[in-house]
This record gives sequence, C-alpha cells and structure tokens, in this order.
Amino acid sequence: MAKLDATTPQPIQLKDYTPPSFLIDKVDLTFDLEEDHTRVTSRLVLHRNPAHPDARAALQLDGRELELESVKLDGELLDSNRYELDAESLSIAAMPDNAILEIVTVIHPETNTSLNGLYRSGANFYSQCEAEGFRKITYYLDRPDVMARFSTTIVADKQKWPVLLSNGNKVGEGTLDRNRHWVKWVDPFKKPAYLFALVAGKLSLLADRYTTTSGREVALEIWVEPADLDKCAHAMSSVKKSMQWDEQRYGLEYDLDTYMIVAVGDFNMGAMENKGLNIFNTKYVLARADTATDVDFDGIEAVIAHEYFHNWTGNRVTCRDWFQLSLKEGLTVFRDQEFSADMGSAEVCRIDAVRTLRTHQFAEDAGPMAHPIRPESYIEINNFYTVTVYEKGAEVVRMYQTLLGRDGFRKGMDLYFKRHDGQAVTCDDFRAAMADANDYDLGQFARWYSQAGTPVLRVRGQYDAAAQTYTLEVSQSCPATPGQAEKQPFHIPLTLGLVGPDGADLPLQLAGEAEAVAGSRVLSVKEASQTFHFINVAVEPVPSLLRNFSAPVKLDFPYSRPQLVHLLAHDSDAFCRWEAGQTLMLQDLQGLIDAARSGGELALKDDFVAAMRRVLADESLDPALVALMLTLPAETYLADQQDEIDPDAIRAGREAMKLGLARALRSEFKAAYTRMLDSGTYQYEATAVARRSLKNIALAYLSELDESGLMELAERQFAEANNMTDAQAALACLVNWPEGDAALASFASKWADEALVMDKWFTLQASSRRLGVVAKIKALMQHPAFALTNPNKVRSLIGTFVHNNLAGFHAIDGSGYEFAADTLLAVDKLNPQVAARLAGSFNRWKKLEPVRRAHMRAALERVAAHAGLSRDVYEIVSKNLL
Ligand code: TRP
Ligand code: ZN
Repeated sequence: MAKLDATTPQPIQLKDYTPPSFLIDKVDLTFDLEEDHTRVTSRLVLHRNPAHPDARAALQLDGRELELESVKLDGELLDSNRYELDAESLSIAAMPDNAILEIVTVIHPETNTSLNGLYRSGANFYSQCEAEGFRKITYYLDRPDVMARFSTTIVADKQKWPVLLSNGNKVGEGTLDRNRHWVKWVDPFKKPAYLFALVAGKLSLLADRYTTTSGREVALEIWVEPADLDKCAHAMSSVKKSMQWDEQRYGLEYDLDTYMIVAVGDFNMGAMENKGLNIFNTKYVLARADTATDVDFDGIEAVIAHEYFHNWTGNRVTCRDWFQLSLKEGLTVFRDQEFSADMGSAEVCRIDAVRTLRTHQFAEDAGPMAHPIRPESYIEINNFYTVTVYEKGAEVVRMYQTLLGRDGFRKGMDLYFKRHDGQAVTCDDFRAAMADANDYDLGQFARWYSQAGTPVLRVRGQYDAAAQTYTLEVSQSCPATPGQAEKQPFHIPLTLGLVGPDGADLPLQLAGEAEAVAGSRVLSVKEASQTFHFINVAVEPVPSLLRNFSAPVKLDFPYSRPQLVHLLAHDSDAFCRWEAGQTLMLQDLQGLIDAARSGGELALKDDFVAAMRRVLADESLDPALVALMLTLPAETYLADQQDEIDPDAIRAGREAMKLGLARALRSEFKAAYTRMLDSGTYQYEATAVARRSLKNIALAYLSELDESGLMELAERQFAEANNMTDAQAALACLVNWPEGDAALASFASKWADEALVMDKWFTLQASSRRLGVVAKIKALMQHPAFALTNPNKVRSLIGTFVHNNLAGFHAIDGSGYEFAADTLLAVDKLNPQVAARLAGSFNRWKKLEPVRRAHMRAALERVAAHAGLSRDVYEIVSKNLL
C-alpha cells in the first residue's frame, strides 16, 4: 500500500463543515478563446459572510492548474506579496469587508484530457464544472453554498467558433477585430459555480417551443454536431413531456426564456444540469430507429427528464456541501423514475430499477467503498457519484412517499420549495419539510442517511386456523460496513398483502382495528424485532411481502417452492410476481453453480421449468413482464451471493440454466418469437417495445441451441432488421458463435462513422463468452474507432470487460487483472475520473477464491505503489487494501 506521507491525500469530513468566510454577489466573466490558450477575466463582487465565526478571516479562493496573470483589489493591482499562491489556492489575508476582485488567468483547454473544467472535443469548447471543475477555470469560492449572479462574455474567432453559449439569456453580441465576435449572456438566477457552463463551436440547432401552464413561452434548443441533426427528434419530444409532467405532478414550471441542450461525444458521465444550458453525453441525446435501441430511447427519455427536473431539485434549491449530494441526486432520480413509470409501464420500470439497485448498489454496500447515502468523509468527491447516492438515495426518497402517501409527499415537496427556494441546504432540511408538512415523526428515518449497508428484514409467518389469525414476526439487522460496526434499527415501510388459495388478496385487519383494509397496506417497522397480528384471516394465506419493493432491504422469508409458484401465478403486485420467479430461479441457479463446482450433474428442476413454461405461454401477460421474468440475474449478482467466488462455476451454472431452459421450452420460445414478430416501420412506443423485448429474449434462448436452423433465424433477423434493437439483439446472439465474425465485420463497415453505434460493437465483443478475453480486448484497443481519451469507448470496451464479463476478467492466470491495472494507470494520466471507475473492478477481490485473490491483490498493490497516482484512483485502491 502507498505509504502515508505529506503528499498522501487527506479525507474531507462532513463534521468539519464551516460556512465560507466571504460570499460572492456577482461574477462577470470574460473568456477569450484561442487555439493555444484561453484567457479568463473574472470580476467578483464580494462581501464578508456574517455567518463565519472569524470576522477577520482571510479570503481563500480555490484554483488548480491556472496561470495567474494579475489580481486587482478594488482597482489596485496587487503585488505578489499581497497574496499567497499554492497549487490549490489563492489567498488574500488583508481583505476589506466589501471588495471587488479582478483576476486574470490563462488556461489550456486544448490540452485538458480530464474533461473536467474547460476542454476541447474536436474543435469545439465545452465545460464541465460539477463538482469542482470551476476552479480549473478561474480562482473562485468553488463550493455550492456560495451562490452568485453570473454574466459571461465569450470572445472567439467567428469562423472557427460561430456558436457561443452560456447560462441564462443572451443580452448582446457583436463583432471585433481579427475576424472575432462576442456574445454576452446573463443568468438572472443566483447559482453555485458548479452550474456554470460554456460551449463554443460549430453546432447545428434543432429548435422548438413550449408554452407553460401559466403561459410562459420557452424556446427549446438542442445543439449538436451538424451530422447528428437528424437524431434529435426523440430528445426534443422527451423535453416537452418532462416539462409537462413536472407541471402536472409537482406544479413546477420552467423559469427562463430558453432551455438549451448541447450534446458532446467526449463526456465523463451521462449529462449535466447547468442552469439553462444542460450538457449531455451524445449517448443520451442522439437516437434514430436504425442507430439506437429501445433501451437507448428509454435512457434518453429518462436522462433528459432527470436533467430537466434538476432545474428545481438541484438548481433552484441546491446542496450546502457535497456530502449532501443525495439531496439533489436521490430526489431527482426518484422524480425521473416516477416520470418514466408514467410514460410507459410502471411495473416494468420498477422491476428495472430494483434490478439495477440489487446488481450494483447492493454490491457497493457489501464492498470496501460502502458508504451511507450521505457520506461522512471522502478523499475525492468525484468518487461519490455512486449508485448508493443516486439509486439508494432515490429509494430513500421513495420511502417518504410510501409512508406519507402521494399527497403527503407532494405537501412535503411544496413546503420544501416554499422554505428553501434560492438556498443551499441539507438532507435534514428535506426530511424536516416532509415531517412538518405532514406532522409525521421522521426522527428515526434519519438513520437511512447516516448508516451504510443493506438491511436484512427477517420475516416469519404463523397461521392459526382455530383462531383465524396470521402472525408476522419481523426483525431487522444490518451488516457491519467500513467504519460502522454497529447499526441502529431503521424505519422501514413494509408493504404487504396476504394472498389466499384462490390467488386473491385477503382483507387485512390488525388486532385492535375495527375494520379490514382491502389489498395492500404499509406497516411501519421501527424496532429490531416486532410482531404484527392479523385477525379474521379465514384461510391460510401466502404472505406477499415488500410489495413494489417498499424498502431497499434484503428479505428473508422461508418460502416453500409451491408458495413461490403460487405467488408467481397470482400475486396482484407485479413486482412480487416477478420476485417469486426470480427467487425460484436464483435457488436453482445456486444449485447449478454448486454442481458445477463439485462436478455434479447440471439439470433443471421440473417445477421451475413448468412455472416458466406457464409464464411464456400466458398471452394475457404484458410481453415486457414475461421477458423480465425470463431474464437471468447478472453473473456479478450471482457472484455476490457466494461465500467465495468461483467465476468459472458461476459462468458454467448460468450457461447451464440458459441451455436447459432453451431445450425444455424450445417450442414455446419459437411460438413466442413468431407471435411477437412485427412487420412494418419501427415505432418507439410501449406495446412495440414490449413485443420486441420478448421476441429478442426468445431469440437469445433459441440461439443457445447449436442448431443451424436457429442460427439462421438470428442471421436473418440481423440481415433484415429495420431497427437497431433487432439488429443488435441478433448480433448479440451471433457473437457467441463462429457465425458472428462475418456479422461483426459487416456491422463495423456499415457503422464506421457512427461513434455511438461503434460503442455497441465494442460492448458486444467485450461481453461475449467467445470473444471476451484479454487478448481480444487488447486487439480491439488498436481498432481505429477506439480511443483511450474517450470515456464512452473506454466504458464500452474496457468497462464492460472488467465489470460485466465475470469469467473473462477473472481468468485464472490473473491476466485480466494485469490488463485492468495497466489500462487504468494509462487512463489515469489522461482522465482520473474514468480511471477510478475502472479501479472499482477490484472491489470484490477479498471474496474471490484464493488463487485469483492473490493475483488481484498483487495487481492492486502494483497500482497503489505507482508514483503520481490521482486522488481519484488512490482513494479506491487504498480503501481496497485496508
Ligand atoms: N449532476 C449530474 C447529474 O446527475 C452528473 C454529474 C456529476 C456529472 N458530476 C459530473 C456529469 C461530471 C458529468 C461530469 O445529472
Ligand atoms: Zn443528477
């Protein structure tokens, strides 16, 4: 492990929060863009913050990688002895209480490969300031509790950079000497620096309009590279749907005259909610039937909604400090999930969200990086844009709604905006608004913010036929996580029903209650263990627990197989129906994995096959739900269920499940495939999407069978598809067989110029059981479409291999780990944020079988000992080696 010395990065602690010594009222920025440098002139109007404990405190501005040209205080040029400069800050000790500072810095976007701060993508300029990128542009109080009014003037060559964008409203433009022009933008809203944005370049515009409920006219603008203008229609319609939904559901309207979206191919994450000027990864904007899949269309709709919703939950009300990140992210993910549920199938959306949470967040909670949704310390904040802060954060917000009801939740939201519009606040402020608006005690609920780990809810049921009672004993526990050995009980909403022998929900009446409730109800579980007595239960029920996944916990209930089959067939709650099928599937997968490990026979159980047959043949079910019920859990999820991970056994067991189902249900899959075939033009619309999902999962199973007729089915679909969903699904089948080589070659020549489509080409090979091996991945890195500087390419090829191809990455000789270590070190020199995500592939190392564990540890130690490691990667590897 790297030794501790003066240069070892030190953690930042939540408990050390202090208000800033100064506040900034106004910022006027001027950017002079040139090919080989950019000059930034900043004029700050500051005043001393009365809330700061020391009335004489120095002003310490954040700044990194800046060339300082000059500092003026109230018009006077400062000598270098009037301020202190180091690698991270500019400090002025003797400051008046009110001041105007003018600072000129020179920066180099043209060599900035981190995609953080101001950078180039091709010839164009783009900015990314969250979380702490603004300090790479100019010296500033780069913290979210400093909110100021910004104006931005951009000066640039008119031919090279004709479009000049920033936040707010355009208030002026003109021409200058040397063929340059300028544009000035004013943002009327106060904002923290992380919401600043600048874009300059040759971009084409898709323009539209939207009228809000109160009659405000909003210009909608999507700016993209000229070749992509024909792929923006879906994004535009998603913007309008989002605006309308937020008005209807929350009474929230857009607040500027223009809402701009810019798409860029070089981007570290999904998208960024800069005020009035959202910047997006092209992946979440561009879609055409022949280039994007249904999953891509879904993703665009969700991410557009997410960024749009941030205008209220994030921008109008922002975070006091970065420990409060889930205040805006958990809430905004919850909002975009609710939006997606209203746009398509609510049941399918919910199951998808739970799958993501279980596959990725439960893993994070069980590993070395486990943290509560409001972390207590961090070394590098960029490492905390996690599935815990985002997706578990959204589950925590959802629990308020489950406990308070939809109307109660809305009251809480209204109060939150009434109290905090224009402020930078904390998760406690949000919780207080929910509690106060509903006069509901959310004191214990606070533990969801402070305790990491996935709670286990242990439930046992007892039916007393003579007394006609059903007793549920509920107890909870939560495993230890780094730095948190002991946990206190959580306040858990447990939504449940009791399913009778005929499949219908029984009335629910707790002892002491006068009347029964029909269907489902929510129990408040608050104790370490507690008992619930249901009375007047006429027949022995099967409990349907944690309906709609009412809390982010692991449920432990000893269902018998016939009970699971009963719930799978009848539960009125779609999530629980799916869950019953998954539980059966998981039990049998575990059996197969154990058998693979011990050299036993790999056979499926009859009751499971029969249950899946009924699901597949039931034409009354939503085809999308059928497809989800037939979808196997990810290899990594299976790995997380093992005491000791043997990747080969997991691969073998899972492949045996696929093959076994394909053999047993061959004719049902063929029938479903034929039934779901559509002719005619592609439409992105719920029914059509659902049909394609079932058709393509049927194709995936059928292509497991080594029969030429079935391979021809995939080849025909690949050749004849009029949309990317079908083409990609067919190619995904083919790549596991020699037939795939020709298909891959034709795909690559057809789509050589479409970066996002080539990403799919890399992903398919990195996840293939035939091609996903280190030598192949290395060869693909030499392909002209690959670039180590482009995060989408790194994620598609390398990220897929190290995160999703369990058996490929964990080759027994350790070659996968060597490759991951070499590659992440190379990426770290270019882009620490992306490198740190690759480093996360080591997070399971302690749970691997001994041979691989030793290889992984050696690779981790090699990375840790590397000189010049970024803070980002240092944090991940050092926490792994603790
Ligand atoms: N706030 C953004 C969102 O959730 C995500 C984000 C955070 C981001 N940091 C970033 C995006 C850095 C790009 C780069 O919508
Ligand atoms: Zn967000």
